[in-house]
Amino acid sequence: MHLRQLIAVQNNRGYLRTGVLMLSRFEKQLFGLMTGAFASRALAIAVQRDLFTWLSRGGDGQTVEQVVAYLGFQERTSRVFLDVLSAIGLLRCENGLFRNTELSEQLLVRGRIADQRGAVALFDHLYLGCGTLEHTLKTGNPASREYGYFFGAGTGSYPDDMDGSGFAPALLLGEFWDFSNARHVLDVGGCLGATAHALAARYPNLRVTVFDLPEICERGKALSKQHPASDARVTFHPGNFFDEDYPHGVDTICFVRILHDWSDKEALRLLEKAHAALQPGGRIVILETLREGSEKASLTALIDLLMLLISPEGGLRTRVAMGKLLRTAGFRRVRTKPTAYLYSLISAEK
Ligand SMILES: C[S@@+](CC[C@H](N)C(=O)[O-])C[C@H]1O[C@@H](n2cnc3c(N)ncnc32)[C@H](O)[C@@H]1O
Repeated sequence: MHLRQLIAVQNNRGYLRTGVLMLSRFEKQLFGLMTGAFASRALAIAVQRDLFTWLSRGGDGQTVEQVVAYLGFQERTSRVFLDVLSAIGLLRCENGLFRNTELSEQLLVRGRIADQRGAVALFDHLYLGCGTLEHTLKTGNPASREYGYFFGAGTGSYPDDMDGSGFAPALLLGEFWDFSNARHVLDVGGCLGATAHALAARYPNLRVTVFDLPEICERGKALSKQHPASDARVTFHPGNFFDEDYPHGVDTICFVRILHDWSDKEALRLLEKAHAALQPGGRIVILETLREGSEKASLTALIDLLMLLISPEGGLRTRVAMGKLLRTAGFRRVRTKPTAYLYSLISAEK
């Protein structure tokens, strides 16, 4: 089709205004999809360099020369990079000065309560696995070995990714579940201890034991010293959570971002072990992304895609499916409440 014909077609549909060819809503949407990978990578690089924290602390904005010097990129490439970050809504430039937008100021600055930089890094590391999506769709096999615990293949970079993105879930757990009556919590798959330290810092009488693979526990123990307020009350229990009994004597067992990794059969095994370790009246508290039937559905579908890329049998569950698993494991009084972001809190009692 010639351009004149194309313009005529668009004109008939009302897209041509005062002689300027406007992009239709669909064309914009398609362009966004085609270039989404570029935008995602640009965001990740900006976060790696902590650009938004630096800009946030930079007063009234920074000139392009200052930003170029900070980034350490070439001037020509930096200009394109800054244009891209502006185009995707992460920067704004007024009177030659670059500043954060409301989005980057709220979500991409170190120390902010809603800091999402760890989640950006986590998604960025999984992004390469996307190159093998078609293979995974055909075979059902994840090609990424980044999450080595599925394959007995070492720990890769996942502990740092999980720990880095664990700030928000840890905060939500302590906010949406009241641990003031708990004395000793077991955090199953608690990784390097981000959740454990956040809970112990918030509840000064609480002891938290992290149950994770031996090499992860070793690293977690070494990092504990960075948390002087909670170090003495956080302990590590190394082992395989499928094979070994869970430590007895705890009154609350948490699973934070764990169950979606595993098939129903495997998840049930973990829940039954938790049930066996608790006394009657003991609690289980789960923080998970649930498969949604609402306006969040498109977002949770993308998390499901991510699970395909890393995990052989994992995937998100609905609220109903999660309740059924808990009841099958022997728990009662199952309650679910949405928290922030895509996380829900599911609790039950032995
Ligand atoms: C998805 S990460 C979640 C980490 C943490 N709860 C969080 O939300 O940041 C899963 C955790 O389960 C641990 N894990 C996986 N398989 C395990 C096993 N068989 N035994 C003990 N821990 C395991 C991993 O080492 C990792 O720390």
